[in-house]
Amino acid sequence: MPKGEKLYEGKAKVLYKGTEPGTIVQYFKDDATAFNAQKKGTIAGKGIINNKVTELVMHNLERIGIPTHFIERLSDREQLVREVEIVPLEVIVRNVVAGTMAKRLGMEEGIRLERPLVEFSLKDDALGDPLIAEEHILSLDLADEDELSEIFDMTHQINDFLRGMFAGIGIELIDFKLEFGRLYEEDEVSYSLILADEFSPDNCRLWDLKTGEKMDKDRFRRDLGGEVEAYQEVARRLGISLETEE
Ligand code: C5P
Repeated sequence: MPKGEKLYEGKAKVLYKGTEPGTIVQYFKDDATAFNAQKKGTIAGKGIINNKVTELVMHNLERIGIPTHFIERLSDREQLVREVEIVPLEVIVRNVVAGTMAKRLGMEEGIRLERPLVEFSLKDDALGDPLIAEEHILSLDLADEDELSEIFDMTHQINDFLRGMFAGIGIELIDFKLEFGRLYEEDEVSYSLILADEFSPDNCRLWDLKTGEKMDKDRFRRDLGGEVEAYQEVARRLGISLETEE
């Protein structure tokens, strides 16, 4: 697929300039990292699955009125997206206690929260993406009050929709991470907030509703094995074809 100069190589994706101005090509790799890249490996075929799962999720979210950066999938591992200025926050939504929340608060994983919890981390690999409060965001001007309120609204809508979507295929959506971006208009002053990055088993926790089996990157993080099969099973239940061009 034609793409322009390489802009950035992250842990799981490479970003290239798109051929049209204001566009980016996201290339999804099989590389997997955990614990801020202290653990490294690969999950065979992960890039293809994450590309296709992200396509499906972004497409469905657009249909319920959430603006996203997604334009179209170009190939097995590439998708074309709008170029945005990323808000330097990881927006984490939790429906059930797991992961760092369980550790930080000394709680058992699996406790259902009274209401969904939205947490923010500062997007900074060198600092290990530290948890921050809304007050930090406003005081440090990482986002303003209107943006924060829009982020909360969109995040809750996304959570409501995705919980239902996954429940429909026998999967509980435990938690996930979102990133938002500012899409500037031609005047380079006005902008709107849109959903960016990706949504895949790399950045959410998915537990089988019947067995409680983990179907996400925790299989890799925790050396549980079966990560390839788990990602494939998520794709299969979502009705995604894994026939590849490779
Ligand atoms: O590790 P923690 O429990 O805080 O993660 C919460 C959720 O956010 C998990 O679904 C995890 O996959 C996701 N996450 C992410 N990228 C990060 C941190 C967390 O995708 N840098």
